[in-house]
Amino acid sequence: MNTISPIDLRSDTVTRPDAEMRQAMLQAEVGDDVFGDDPSVNHLEALAAERMGKEAAVFLPSGTMANLVAVLSHTQPTDEVLLGNESHLFNYEVAGASRVGGVQLHPLPNDASGGLADEDVRTAIREPNIHSPRTSLLCLENTHNRCGGSVLPLTKIQTLSRIAHDAGVRVHLDGARIFNAEVASGTTTADLTATVDSVSFCLSKGLACPVGSLLCGSSELIERARRERKMLGGGMRQSGVLAAAGIHALSHNIERLAEDHENARMLAEGIRRIGTFAMEIPTTNIVVLQVLEGARDDWLLAFKKAGVHASAFGTGRIRMVTHKDVDTSSIEEALRRIAQAAVAVG
Ligand SMILES: Cc1ncc(COP(=O)(O)O)c(C=O)c1O
Repeated sequence: MNTISPIDLRSDTVTRPDAEMRQAMLQAEVGDDVFGDDPSVNHLEALAAERMGKEAAVFLPSGTMANLVAVLSHTQPTDEVLLGNESHLFNYEVAGASRVGGVQLHPLPNDASGGLADEDVRTAIREPNIHSPRTSLLCLENTHNRCGGSVLPLTKIQTLSRIAHDAGVRVHLDGARIFNAEVASGTTTADLTATVDSVSFCLSKGLACPVGSLLCGSSELIERARRERKMLGGGMRQSGVLAAAGIHALSHNIERLAEDHENARMLAEGIRRIGTFAMEIPTTNIVVLQVLEGARDDWLLAFKKAGVHASAFGTGRIRMVTHKDVDTSSIEEALRRIAQAAVAVG
């Protein structure tokens, strides 16, 4: 039997709240948030809005619900939403926007940085007529998960926002890992999100909270979002216990994301030396391996047997994500185990 403890690189969502975060949760002041009475949730929402440079924010159970609530709050059924063909919203949210929001999702090719070509967006925005869906929303993602945690350049966000706004189209940013973008680029989240109409971000990824996401935007948008959240069953009661973890994370777990980025770079450089995989050296915390020899699932199994958990990430692709619960020495150990797996498969 394999008794070594696994190094879990499947996602940055696997982190467990540390002792200080649990202490903050234990001490949280709470109330009924559906009545707007929870002081910890109110405090977290104010902090989130401030960090994103927006008027207001609403606390939600997950990034998926935050994106769905954003789509519901910006659109009407039969509208069309433009988004990247590699985006999380398009690939991993069970088409909830179509099912619940009744919108048509119109994917455009993502480039390597997770961006979209200006011309593609311009030509995809439909002219109003009685035949076509109304293009009402453009969704962007930063950092970009399926594009290897790439940071969407600020100038790209600004240009795409201008193209959308000139045509009366709103912009939502899926910023599940926006703080990774801030730390990697040195540009503040408020600057990265200044031209978008809404931004969602996750507490439960690199920020290492057990639960939670925030959607930020104008007061008017967030008022509508609160109704949509309630409709989806996302209105929580004494959720200050969870918000307290978020408040703690915003002041303790952002700068440390730089360590995750450094560990991801070290991991990618080490795996590259093995030679069986092609990959970009990441700028944030996501390493995507393209399998050059052998079958992806055989590799995943060999990694698992050697004590490294990774995840399938599309045809011939494997994802490894660094996070707060794997330090540099765990990455060194992961590289030793991956080398053993390569011998076993080889
Ligand atoms: C870019 C992106 N957006 C949204 C989500 C959804 O977040 P959640 O798992 O909290 O629903 C994820 C989760 O991995 C993500 O990577």
